[in-house]
Amino acid sequence: MPVRRDVHPHLPPERISDWHERGRHVTHFLNTLSIFFPAGERFFMDSVRNYRDQVKDPELSRAIAGFIGQEAMHTREHILYNRLMEDAGLPAAALDRAVWKLLDMLRKILPKSWQLAHTIALEHYTAMLADGVLKDVRHLGADSQAGYRQVWTWHALEETEHKAVAYDVWNTVMKPGPYRYFVRTFTMLTTTVTFWAMVFVFHIALVMGDKGCRNKLSGFGTALRFLWASPGALPRMIPEWLSYFRPGFHPWDDDNRAELARIDPLVREIEDTARAAGVSTRAPSLRGTA
Ligand SMILES: [Fe+2]
Ligand SMILES: [Fe+2]
Repeated sequence: MPVRRDVHPHLPPERISDWHERGRHVTHFLNTLSIFFPAGERFFMDSVRNYRDQVKDPELSRAIAGFIGQEAMHTREHILYNRLMEDAGLPAAALDRAVWKLLDMLRKILPKSWQLAHTIALEHYTAMLADGVLKDVRHLGADSQAGYRQVWTWHALEETEHKAVAYDVWNTVMKPGPYRYFVRTFTMLTTTVTFWAMVFVFHIALVMGDKGCRNKLSGFGTALRFLWASPGALPRMIPEWLSYFRPGFHPWDDDNRAELARIDPLVREIEDTARAAGVSTRAPSLRGTA
C-alpha cells in the first residue's frame, strides 16, 4: 500500500550540472527526466482522479490516496530540483512549459479514458526506469553526490511501490475486451515515440545550455555508453517494454517488491544528510532559491 512520505532531500545547488559520477552529460540525462515530472505527475494525478468516484473497492481507494500523495511530494521536490537548473542558467523553465503545453493539449483533445491510458503507459516507463535504478547502483553512481542520489532513489522506490495503482484503476473502470487492449497498447506506442523524442531534444538543450561544459559534443559518447552499454538502461528495458503488450499484463508480474525494504532506511539517511548540511528536514529544502 503506497503511503505519502514528506521527505526533503538536500540538493547542493552548485552540483546541479555535475552531480553524477560519470560527468555532465549523464547528469543532464537524468536532469532531463526531472523536467518531465511537475507537469507529468500532475497529469497522472488528474487522470486517476477523473475515475476516483467509480472505484468502490476500499483498498484500491486507499491506494489511490497514497498514489496521489506520493506524486504530489515528487512534484514538489522536482519543482525545487528544476529551479536549481534554471538558477544555474539552464533552460529548465522553457522546457517545463513545453511539457505543460503538450499535456494541457492532451487534456483538451483526448477522452478521459485515453488520458488514463497515457498515464498507465508512462507509469510503466517510470516503473521500468525505477527498477533499473534500484537493481544496478551504476545508474545513479555510488560516488555521485549523495543528495541527488537520494532524491532519485526515493522517487524510484515510491514509483515501484505505486506502480500498479493507475493500472488497477484502468482495469476497474474500463470494460475488458479488444477496445481496452487496443487503447492501452496503441498509447504505449505513441507515448514511446513522443517521450524519447522529447528526451533527446531536452537532453541536447540542457547540455548546450551548460556554460561549464567543455566537451559538449564529445561528451555525448559517454552518455550513449551509459544508456546502451554500461549499465545500459535502455537494452535492459526492452523485455519489460514488450511485456506490456501481453493481453494479461500486470505491473506486479515483475515482482520487485523486495526492494521496498530500503525505503525506511533511505528516509532516515535523507534526514541525516540534510541535518549534516544544516538544512531543515521539515521545511522545503530549497526555500528561497526562486
Ligand atoms: Fe513520481
Ligand atoms: Fe508514478
